[in-house]
Amino acid sequence: MNSSRRSAARNVVVGVGGGIAAYKACALVRHFTEAGHNVHVVPTESALRFVGAATFEALSGNPVHTSVFESIPDVLHVKLGQQADLVIIAPATADLMARAAQGRSDDLLTGTLLTARCPVLFAPAMHTEMWEHAATRANVATLRARGATVLEPARGRLTGKDTGAGRLPEPDEIGTFGDLLLSRADALPRDLEGRTVVVSAGGTREALDPVRYLTNRSSGKQGYALARVAAQRGATVTLIAGNTMGLADPAAVDVVRIGSARELQAAMSEHARTADLVVMAAAVADYRPGEVAATKLKKDADGHSAALETVTMIENPDVLAGLVAARARGELAARSVIVGFAAETGDADCTVLDYGRAKLKRKGCDLLVLNAVGDGRAFEVDENAGWLLGADGSEAALSLDSKTVMASRILDAAVAQIGAPR
Ligand SMILES: Cc1cc2nc3c(=O)[nH]c(=O)nc-3n(C[C@H](O)[C@H](O)[C@H](O)COP(=O)(O)O)c2cc1C
Repeated sequence: MNSSRRSAARNVVVGVGGGIAAYKACALVRHFTEAGHNVHVVPTESALRFVGAATFEALSGNPVHTSVFESIPDVLHVKLGQQADLVIIAPATADLMARAAQGRSDDLLTGTLLTARCPVLFAPAMHTEMWEHAATRANVATLRARGATVLEPARGRLTGKDTGAGRLPEPDEIGTFGDLLLSRADALPRDLEGRTVVVSAGGTREALDPVRYLTNRSSGKQGYALARVAAQRGATVTLIAGNTMGLADPAAVDVVRIGSARELQAAMSEHARTADLVVMAAAVADYRPGEVAATKLKKDADGHSAALETVTMIENPDVLAGLVAARARGELAARSVIVGFAAETGDADCTVLDYGRAKLKRKGCDLLVLNAVGDGRAFEVDENAGWLLGADGSEAALSLDSKTVMASRILDAAVAQIGAPR
């Protein structure tokens, strides 16, 4: 695991409902134990029909109980709830959320939910019909209104052969939101509900021939984190994904795959048209090979390739500046917010901040996330730091933290600007 995730040990209760995805709770337990946290698993009776207590005890290193009538001298439902820094429930079944919304205390997990005063995160998983049923919608609304974070489920393969909304997000994704709640100690806001967000992520790939391409070191992790957090803050999110080295699709996000900068430009101008927020986190190649060979460029008899030794590069379109110009021409929503990214290194003439300020001015976007790169910073890693520069002259330092925390801070700043007159 990434050692940078190790943080001060906290008490995490992982509640497990009786759904087919209960086995994925095992990986979630691992996520928290490997970060150094003290994890208590509280499965429901139904959950134990899917995964045995022995597995949860071995993974968490703590005894597993299900009923309030076990280990009575400890009064477990009070102790676990009062000591918890985070209660995270995965999978949250329709039945379990109904019981929680009613405030029932008919097992150890629901009792613990009533005594806990820490952030509570539900990761629902069920068939699409159950998720969309008015009763479940009402229960989710009740839990959210009371301050719990209820994640949007992923879309995809369900228990049988059917697919749809209701799939449990991947354990690492749920764990990431748990980490976020541990760091902010309040619920994830639903302040992007009814908003449309377009995020680009990853590096573009510029073809030389059918086999080779030029790309850059962007992993897409920051853009994916932005899309993931925006979706869980209630937005309808489209993620325009370039080369991302196999990152898993975020839950509840539409992913559009692109290759070259020009494909990115076409996808962005199509999807940004109706967006309230456009985030250009993709690392766009400034140049591309002037010619793309139709067949593989081969070495000649003496082992050289003149074509590969003399590739002529031509300039790619400036996608970010193009979006700002399109907005000025009225092709985007006038009150949309455009966020750009800059990865800079300082030199003898200018600091990273100088380059960032100049880029913000040149591009004309509303916010610029500026990352100092080099020495293993920003690219491919799970953490990020930098500055958030505003067209209004504001400058905020972004201290080193996970890309999910960074995404939250960037979205906080962007949300504050959505709808502002330009
Ligand atoms: C094979 C199987 C898979 C199930 N999967 C789910 C599921 O993914 N989500 C859900 O809400 N209920 C699911 N159920 C139904 C629940 O097990 C049932 O509603 C149970 O009462 C939930 O208990 P709980 O409140 O302890 O979670 C499933 C049942 C079976 C038999």
